[in-house]
Amino acid sequence: MTIATRSGKGALCALAFLGFGIAAPTPNSPEAAENGVLIGPSGVEVLPSFRNKFPAADFNRPVTEPYWQTEIIGKADDSVKKTLDAMANASFIAFEPEFYQVLGISDYSQEKEVEPIFEFPPGPTWANRVVHDGSVYAPECNCLFVAELHPPKKGFSMQFLPWVWRTSLNGSTPVTEKVYPNPPLTIANGAHYFNGSVYWAQEGNYTTPGGIVRMNPITLQTEVVLNNFMGHRFNSPNDVVITKSGVAYFTDGYYGFANFNDTIKPELANGVYRWDMAAGRVRMVAGAGTGLFINPNGVALDATDDILYVTARGFTSADADGNRNIYKFSRSDEQGMLSPPQLLTYADAGFPDGVKVDANGRIYGGVAGAVDVWSKDGTLLGKIKVMADDTAVNMAWVGKWLYIFGRSRIYRVLLT
Ligand SMILES: *[C@@H]1O[C@H](CO)[C@@H](O)[C@H](O)[C@H]1NC(C)=O
Ligand SMILES: *[C@@H]1O[C@H](CO)[C@@H](O)[C@H](O)[C@H]1NC(C)=O
Ligand SMILES: *[C@@H]1O[C@H](CO)[C@@H](O)[C@H](O)[C@H]1NC(C)=O
Ligand SMILES: *[C@@H]1O[C@H](CO)[C@@H](O)[C@H](O)[C@H]1NC(C)=O
Ligand SMILES: *[C@@H]1O[C@H](CO)[C@@H](O)[C@H](O)[C@H]1NC(C)=O
Repeated sequence: MTIATRSGKGALCALAFLGFGIAAPTPNSPEAAENGVLIGPSGVEVLPSFRNKFPAADFNRPVTEPYWQTEIIGKADDSVKKTLDAMANASFIAFEPEFYQVLGISDYSQEKEVEPIFEFPPGPTWANRVVHDGSVYAPECNCLFVAELHPPKKGFSMQFLPWVWRTSLNGSTPVTEKVYPNPPLTIANGAHYFNGSVYWAQEGNYTTPGGIVRMNPITLQTEVVLNNFMGHRFNSPNDVVITKSGVAYFTDGYYGFANFNDTIKPELANGVYRWDMAAGRVRMVAGAGTGLFINPNGVALDATDDILYVTARGFTSADADGNRNIYKFSRSDEQGMLSPPQLLTYADAGFPDGVKVDANGRIYGGVAGAVDVWSKDGTLLGKIKVMADDTAVNMAWVGKWLYIFGRSRIYRVLLT
């Protein structure tokens, strides 16, 4: 997660102004074409000419800032600033024609709405960040759950909060409210729906070891189902995904200790664990021991359960030389080991926190300012943007709707 101060904008009524697309500049205006960016009513297409040669003599961008916030150093043509503004205000940025298939529009000149449906109340003044993660849909309640992370007390970093947020899709408009799992989760993060239950990866705290917790999506009754590796505490489990046959993969990192100051000093290396839930077998399948991960984070499976994606971060997301990767592994039920990793992508802004895969095998990652969409081979197709002051953290599919959970808001967009 990037470390940014949350801007305390509160008013829910602001959400009435849906679609934060730019105010209809003329599509394909000559000035737009000149800088290598095609500007439509709600999105832009960035052409190879812009991508290859940034239209300013001198420029720079820190790794946590999005593309459109590239700093122009010294003098530059006014039109460059306008182009970056258009990118900043767009609801999508296309790099490849295939992105229009994802969005279900013909090209940049068609509108596409990314709809903010909820704004979270601001966190306490002492919280240097508020994060919403672990988005998961459960059909039993026709609802989504997302965890909240911030310190409830001054002087603490991230400590246990007794609630998660639930978005009910039962009515004509989504209704989001706090609900209270019982017993409470201890710093819940990623989650996955499996066989009638929601499985949360929880980081744990000083007094409650982290692990995996099963929650009934209707009663919100919880039960710890995994809390150790041979008597070792996990460091702070971050995300979990489960195959149709009941094999879970979850990530374990130093987030709780090093970033959030909410767990005791870890006894284990960070890594990705495979947990055969019925057999009770837990083993590390990719980890710091292999040199691959400092902090693994999001996990996702493709529709066939044959491919596992794992996102990775450095010590912090602001480390210029840190990991901001998504790795791809092949897996099977018979073979406990994963294939050697392939680097699918290195993100350009922040790091991919949550990761999800669509029915066609495309990969979606929550990064600073947007959800990035990559083809199976790791080509960046485009960015589905969140609002200017927001960071996309995680996503959940409900049919063809992609629900995007940002630090400050929930959005949805209908894809194909
Ligand atoms: C784009 O956003 C900036 C603020 O970020 C605003 O000043 C400007 O008017 C917007 N431009 C358009 C075309 O909407
Ligand atoms: C949505 O409706 C279903 C069926 O009536 C019900 O079981 C479920 O509890 C409802 N979900 C929520 C979040 O109220
Ligand atoms: C740890 O989490 C538990 C809930 O599982 C909570 O009751 C307890 O107060 C937390 N401990 C600390 C030190 O915050
Ligand atoms: C799903 O849950 C039921 C109990 O509700 C259990 O009998 C069954 O074995 C579970 N299936 C899997 C694949 O774990
Ligand atoms: C870490 O948490 C403990 C409470 O468990 C607190 O006493 C200490 O001040 C915290 N340290 C930092 C650096 O926030």
